[in-house]
Amino acid sequence: MKQIFVIIVAAGSGRRFGSPLPKQFCNLAGRPLLMHTIDAMRESVPSSRVLLVLHSDYISLWHELCQRHKFSEQGIDIVSGGDTRSQSVRNALANVPCSADVYVLVHDGARPLADHAVTTRVMQALEAGDAAVVPAIPVTDSLRHVSPDGNSDAVDRSNYVAVQTPQGFRADILHKAYDGSDAATDDASLVQSVFPDIKISITPGAAYNIKITSPTDIAVAEALMRTRSKF
Ligand code: CTP
Ligand code: MG
Repeated sequence: MKQIFVIIVAAGSGRRFGSPLPKQFCNLAGRPLLMHTIDAMRESVPSSRVLLVLHSDYISLWHELCQRHKFSEQGIDIVSGGDTRSQSVRNALANVPCSADVYVLVHDGARPLADHAVTTRVMQALEAGDAAVVPAIPVTDSLRHVSPDGNSDAVDRSNYVAVQTPQGFRADILHKAYDGSDAATDDASLVQSVFPDIKISITPGAAYNIKITSPTDIAVAEALMRTRSKF
C-alpha cells in the first residue's frame, strides 16, 4: 500500500477576510474553522500523515486552541509556513519522501467542507495511475475575457472549470515541480509549468467545497454544513 501525506496549508494571513485573527482560526459552527478541515481530511484518508502548515506566530495559539477544544493533535506534524502559499507547500514537502510510491494531497486549510466524496475521487484517480489530479466544478456565471484596452468578449464557459483542493500528486512529480519553480497559485499549475507533457487529470469537485475568503463565506459554510447531507 502506498504512503499518503496530506499537506494542509494554513499559514496565510487572510487579508481579504479582514479579521485580526487569520480566518483559519475563526469560529465555524462552534470551533476553529481549521479543525473542520483537518477532521474532514483525517476521516477521508485515515491512513495518512498530516503535515499542517502554520505561520510561526500562530503555532502556540494553535496548541492552545487544540487544548481548549479537546482536539487531538495525534498524527499531525506542524511545519512553519512561508511568505506565499507555494512556499508553504514547499516547506511541507521537505518532510515528504521523493518517491513514486508516495501520494501527496495538498489542501487549503480554508476549505473546511472537502469531504470523503471529493477526496475519494482524487485518491481513485491517483490509484488508477494519474500523476496529478485536480477536483474542479463547472463555472456557472457567464464569463468575459477582458483585454488590457478595456474591451471584452464573451467566452464559452463550457470550456472552463473552477479548480478546488485537495489536489493529488505522485510525490516524486510534485518534488521535481517544486525543485524547478515555486511561483503558481495552485500546485497543478506549477506541475504543468515544469512538466508540460504531464496530463492534469480533472475529477468532479463539489459546489459545497467552498474556500472561505470573506466573512460572508462563514455564514454560507454553516448553511452548507446543515444541508450537505441532502446533496
Ligand atoms: N496559505 C499558506 N501560506 C501562505 C499563504 C496562504 O499556507 N503564505 C494558505 C492559506 O492559509 C489558505 C490557503 O493557502 O488556507 C489558500 O489561500 P487563501 O485563501 O488565499 O488564504 P490567505 O492567503 O490567507 O488569504 P488572502 O489571500 O485573502 O490574504
Ligand atoms: Mg492568499
